[in-house]
Amino acid sequence: MEREMSMEKPTFYVTTPIYYPSDNLHIGHAYCTTATDTLARFKKLMGYDVYFLTGLDEHGLKIERKAKEAGVTPQAYVDKIAEDTTALWKLMNIEYDDFIRTTQERHAQVVQHIFKQLYDQGDIYKSEYEGWYCTPCESFWTKTQLKDGKCPDCGRPVEFAREESYFFRLSKYADRLIEYIRQNPEFIQPQSRVNEMMQNFLLPGLEDLCVSRTTFDWGIKVPFDPKHVVYVWIDALSNYISALGYSTENDQLFRKYWPADVHVVGKEIVRFHTIVWPIMLMALGLPLPKKVFGHGWLKIDGEKMSKSLGNVVDPVVLCQRYGVDAVRYYLMREVPFGSDGNFTNESLLNRINSDLANDLGNLLSRTVAMIEKYFGGVVQPMGERTELEDNLIQLAESLTAKVEDLMNRMQFSTALAEIWKLVGECNRYIDLTQPWVLGKSEDGKARLSTVLYTLAECARIVAVYVGPFMPSTPARMFEQLGVTEDGLKTWDSAKRFGGLPAGTKVTKGEALFPRID
Ligand code: MSP
Repeated sequence: MEREMSMEKPTFYVTTPIYYPSDNLHIGHAYCTTATDTLARFKKLMGYDVYFLTGLDEHGLKIERKAKEAGVTPQAYVDKIAEDTTALWKLMNIEYDDFIRTTQERHAQVVQHIFKQLYDQGDIYKSEYEGWYCTPCESFWTKTQLKDGKCPDCGRPVEFAREESYFFRLSKYADRLIEYIRQNPEFIQPQSRVNEMMQNFLLPGLEDLCVSRTTFDWGIKVPFDPKHVVYVWIDALSNYISALGYSTENDQLFRKYWPADVHVVGKEIVRFHTIVWPIMLMALGLPLPKKVFGHGWLKIDGEKMSKSLGNVVDPVVLCQRYGVDAVRYYLMREVPFGSDGNFTNESLLNRINSDLANDLGNLLSRTVAMIEKYFGGVVQPMGERTELEDNLIQLAESLTAKVEDLMNRMQFSTALAEIWKLVGECNRYIDLTQPWVLGKSEDGKARLSTVLYTLAECARIVAVYVGPFMPSTPARMFEQLGVTEDGLKTWDSAKRFGGLPAGTKVTKGEALFPRID
């Protein structure tokens, strides 16, 4: 019976890019993964059957070179990084369902199948490639695309290269894609990226894409011409369906979850996800993902954080120093999702001390401490409501619709700001009602039971809302608030004020987020 019920849940398939493991991942990668995890957790709370895929993109010349420098095989090199990466996601409480690695056999077989099918139907053909190649970015550029003779993405020198290659006929599908993008305004998000794709790439005319290499080995062999390896986007992008068993006997996941609901990607790879990937899918006769969301970059002093610029921040160090939930909160609160944002230690400490320690932490500790002080730790029934309670309750109950809408539009930062309005109003309510004065008289105590009930119940509601962002925080709040019943921890239970039973026993615990000096 339970199984049948769960099969009726609507599905939600969400992915991060598969990361390029040329070094350990930095906080910029963690930014993208945290956002995806937050969305996945929110959808789970909303009752969706969520499938969350992440992984590693392990092929290419750069990996081959790195491994050589390190004196190990490319496989040993990526194995080590895969271990570190999964450990990082475990530390950061990233609850993915599958971790795909492009060196896995399950992936290689699907890529070979796709490559052969596209070749057999005439969408891939053999020719010769000439162009300017940027090795670190692994991109070919035409002369006109270069910036001052250098790579337009990273600004480093490029080399002229010519080689026999296979090409994918993007041009053949360009009109269909333009039409699709026009008909589906939700497909590319945020909206500004639509214009970027149209003006810069689609409307000037698409060139066919070089999809194989003969100059290195570390890749999936072209099945009918093994001196070529598949490179790069047909290998990388296929992960979103190879992980689901597409084209294999074991394709239940593919049939259940495809098309993806959202591919979350950084802005520099929106182009591949909204042009190359949809065209691959069109050529394969498959439905297109419902949405590609291109987020901005985490920067340091105005520069994109990246290993090659030497300005990376290690997420492991940050999490160990400040706690996982605080770091996750900062990443989702500080930068509006879709825009670039600057990472600074000051802004991180500021968020922790002000939003977490002062606002949220104090609300909980004051509420619990006062219930202990005035009522022996037992939540009293809600008495008569005044306008003050009416306003607060109205704010709490209207939060659901706002937060749901913002989360569905991936406006994480604004969703948190809305939740913090309730936190802020609760703290203001404490100042206005002055419980320490009410506690002095018997008359005041009748009123005080209403005030403290209101605060405890609002704190419970806040605990539910912060769960997708800060996965360990709700349990710590529920423990102090004495909320044990699972029914009071659900998303639905936060929609209505009043769920917390009178008689609940609260227990003061450690500060949720200690202040950091
Ligand atoms: N391997 C490709 C993706 C293939 S997906 C089929 C790749 N890998 S990457 O490791 O270079 O980048 C992975 C993701 O991390 C990208 O979405 C990228 O935008 C994101 N970030 C890397 N550095 C970042 C910041 N400094 N800030 C925000 N996101 C960043 O591209």
